[in-house]
Amino acid sequence: MANHSPIGVFDSGIGGLSILKEIVKILPEYDYVYLGDNARAPYGPRSFETVYQYTWENVQKLFEMGCPLVILACNTSSAKALRTIQQVNLPKTDSKKRVLGVIRPTSETVGKFTKTNHIGILGTKGTVQSDSYKIEIQKFYPEIKIFQQACPMFVPLVENNEINTPATGYFVKKYLSALFAKSKKIDTIILGCTHYPLLKKVIMRNLPKGVRVISQGEIVAESLADYLLRHPEIKRKCSKGGKLEFYTTDSAIAFDKSAGFFWRNKIRSKHLAV
Ligand code: DGL
Repeated sequence: MANHSPIGVFDSGIGGLSILKEIVKILPEYDYVYLGDNARAPYGPRSFETVYQYTWENVQKLFEMGCPLVILACNTSSAKALRTIQQVNLPKTDSKKRVLGVIRPTSETVGKFTKTNHIGILGTKGTVQSDSYKIEIQKFYPEIKIFQQACPMFVPLVENNEINTPATGYFVKKYLSALFAKSKKIDTIILGCTHYPLLKKVIMRNLPKGVRVISQGEIVAESLADYLLRHPEIKRKCSKGGKLEFYTTDSAIAFDKSAGFFWRNKIRSKHLAV
């Protein structure tokens, strides 16, 4: 094993830090490399082909940095690229490396939260159009009905620090009323995008009583811990030094500045050309 073989965490930009933060909380002993493709974000409105191509390029960069395991913290990448990477790319390139996403772990657990069996998904246009949550959740819980709503304004609102403004209140109300128009029985909502946990408070304020909101960070972190226990051959390859490194495909200065929304401590990222 190489001395430094960190777990790679990939996102289209900075939002994936909300996932990495929860992973580091419960698995602080491992080394991590975070890569944000800020130069080409957002991925949400992009085509299947483009998201797949960008995601695979970034995953290969993380492999080159020595990562034996890469987590796609980005929902849009998990929805549009993960399956092809797992089924086509990895068997052809390096079948010993692993790439995991965020949709499956979330889908596996939702059944325990709902009583009405009506679940709402909020995500980017790409995630919603892919139907990935619907497909995955119905594998585990065929009795659950899924209702989805794309929220294209949420990512720009978060990235422009508009979280507690009337503009955000307007769009939260608009998307929630569109979601509940599809079913009044929804009792659980999944925040299926890296940025949405930052809007959780505003979303909760605008929900009917008793509706539960699930953000993914903790679920993904617990699922990773469980995966490592079940896969000692991968666990052995992940180096343990507690080191965190951050890379962005755009300006490191801009990344470090905006990372503050998602990561409480100061970040010093490095630029990586794509
Ligand atoms: N990281 C993306 C996701 O979770 C949101 C930002 C983007 O659209 O690139 O879907």
